[in-house]
Amino acid sequence: MRFLGTFAALSTVLAVVQGVGVKPGQICNLVTFGDSYTDVVNTGYKSVAWPAYTAGSAGVKLFPFARSGATCSNNITLRPTLSVFESQLPLYFEENANGTTRLDPSKTVYTLWIGTNDVGANSLISGGNKASIVDTTACAVNWVKTLYDSGARNFIFQNVSPDDPIAARPLVRCIFVAKPFLDSTTEHHESVFMTELALSGNALSKLMLKDLASKLRGAHIALFDSHSLFQDMFDHPSLYLNGTAPLNVKGASNTCVFPLDGTPGTPVCTATLGTDRDSFLWADELHPSEQADRIVAREIASVIRGKANKWTTWFS
Ligand SMILES: *[C@@H]1O[C@H](CO)[C@@H](O)[C@H](O)[C@H]1NC(C)=O
Ligand SMILES: *[C@@H]1O[C@H](CO)[C@@H](O)[C@H](O)[C@H]1NC(C)=O
Ligand SMILES: *[C@@H]1O[C@H](CO)[C@@H](O)[C@H](O)[C@H]1NC(C)=O
Repeated sequence: MRFLGTFAALSTVLAVVQGVGVKPGQICNLVTFGDSYTDVVNTGYKSVAWPAYTAGSAGVKLFPFARSGATCSNNITLRPTLSVFESQLPLYFEENANGTTRLDPSKTVYTLWIGTNDVGANSLISGGNKASIVDTTACAVNWVKTLYDSGARNFIFQNVSPDDPIAARPLVRCIFVAKPFLDSTTEHHESVFMTELALSGNALSKLMLKDLASKLRGAHIALFDSHSLFQDMFDHPSLYLNGTAPLNVKGASNTCVFPLDGTPGTPVCTATLGTDRDSFLWADELHPSEQADRIVAREIASVIRGKANKWTTWFS
């Protein structure tokens, strides 16, 4: 992980030397797409989601389109949610047509963080759709092309963060994933599979974005390596977490536990409050904590401000 980080940092330096990416002071608008990780309305256990923090610290205007539960496309992963292709992009284009989001392309950056719902429960991991990781990844990369065709030029693609710490924690599995108690072997297999999907999808999206970047004239495309950033927070929590409780990367600030023997019953829920919450990497079994979000926000803000960033590679 660490040497990958170094490699990303080196590529960033090279990228800056080659004059790619966005320049300091260039970006005034941030347009976000994605799922609950990026939703600024339905923020779950967080009071503020990362795009709002980023907009504040980078001094840009936020146009938020990401919605909880979203997948890339309902063609691939049919969920009754506001997907990127059937809901978020159409709304953006509608507002673009009537002037609400008619933004100067050179001053605007577009972000996408999607994929967890495409690999998760009722989807790839359980065979709930007729697609593969290749389809969901191609779909996400096609978000760049679709916006480019409408005039957009600056893109930050946030890859899928590690799911292994989440899937590996049977004790905090029941707020969203309401399923019967699983034995530890099944839990372990799911965790391994989630990890494989996240890593494969991220390797694919990197190649696909690089290829696309070479074809889209005038576009600036960045890959933000959420996976490595979250892995680093997991491996070195004291560099990132600052709450008043013992640092915790395997549990969550909000948990519910079903009776341990698997018998049906009412889950027992626990909420960590106040300054203790900033000791956690996860808010619940699916979502990053607010402090993890502040870190994401800080890093994305630095990319938007045109600075070299350890987790970011500009392909063009
Ligand atoms: C979804 O399927 C419809 C009907 O086949 C098609 O028109 C549309 O382009 C597809 N959308 C995506 C994102 O692939
Ligand atoms: C533009 O379209 C959006 C989405 O349909 C709508 O909410 C908004 O009110 C419209 N604005 C104007 C000025 O027509
Ligand atoms: C942790 O640091 C963030 C800035 O990253 C700050 O906003 C927050 O208040 C800090 N939390 C605590 C409990 O000190």
